[in-house]
Amino acid sequence: MMTLVPLSPALGVEVRGVDLRRLSEGETEIVLRAFRAFHLLLFRDQTLDEAGQVRFARLFGRISRQGAIQKASGGGATYVSNMRGDGTFGEGELLFHSDQCYYDHPMKAIMLYGIEVAQDGGETLFANTTRAYARMPEGLKRRIDRASVRHHFDYGALHYGETKRAEVEALKISAIHRVVGRHPETGAPILMVNAQTVDRILDLAPAESAALVGEINAHIAAPDNVYRHTWRPNDLVVWDNLSLQHARTDFANSQRRTLRRCAIAHDLEPAD
Ligand code: OGA
Ligand code: MN
Repeated sequence: MMTLVPLSPALGVEVRGVDLRRLSEGETEIVLRAFRAFHLLLFRDQTLDEAGQVRFARLFGRISRQGAIQKASGGGATYVSNMRGDGTFGEGELLFHSDQCYYDHPMKAIMLYGIEVAQDGGETLFANTTRAYARMPEGLKRRIDRASVRHHFDYGALHYGETKRAEVEALKISAIHRVVGRHPETGAPILMVNAQTVDRILDLAPAESAALVGEINAHIAAPDNVYRHTWRPNDLVVWDNLSLQHARTDFANSQRRTLRRCAIAHDLEPAD
């Protein structure tokens, strides 16, 4: 029997009693509905190979091919890993962010499967931006409701080597979004400011922009707006990249950490 157990007041539900290798039509429908309602689903103790994970990911949409990492996935999975040669952004702390905000159409969901997990640190944090916006004082809402923000490609946080870094910088990837965006499927307000990829809020002096970004980020990262996930091997977590932001706590690189990742494209992601 399938049961749903909430993970925190802010977001997320654990789905128990299903095997992701053989989901029935009825179970699939409940899973997709729960995803819309809770923005993050956790399935524990799943046995999933790469093909099985990609098959499950495809229930949520196309696999993203936007950007170098997603292109390299060839429509399949990649690895967040400090161990594998083909691992990407596998080391250290990550501040709160949504992926791909430096594109017009950021991916709609991310799916990670635990293969090797750190014993100490390396937890993934999730914050609900729709809820953060709803709980803001009216004065702050008024200051941001019409504002726009430019994001740039955060090559630094991705730990590229110097050659790669120069290549990426030359691409000058950036995008402008409304600070208060709209979720493409539900129309709910979402915050398009984060702690990692903001260049500037438009029409503000740099110091004013930085102060406002800091104020918004504090609402997003408020402890009671966050779910902290401590990984176990065979955990599958899938989350809405636009309703939620995610971060990672630091961990010693002597610990092996490998997560298999599927990136699910925004419906409007351009074909390449
Ligand atoms: C990601 C990401 C966080 C983690 O996959 O986009 O930011 O905990 N991962 O590894
Ligand atoms: Mn990320």
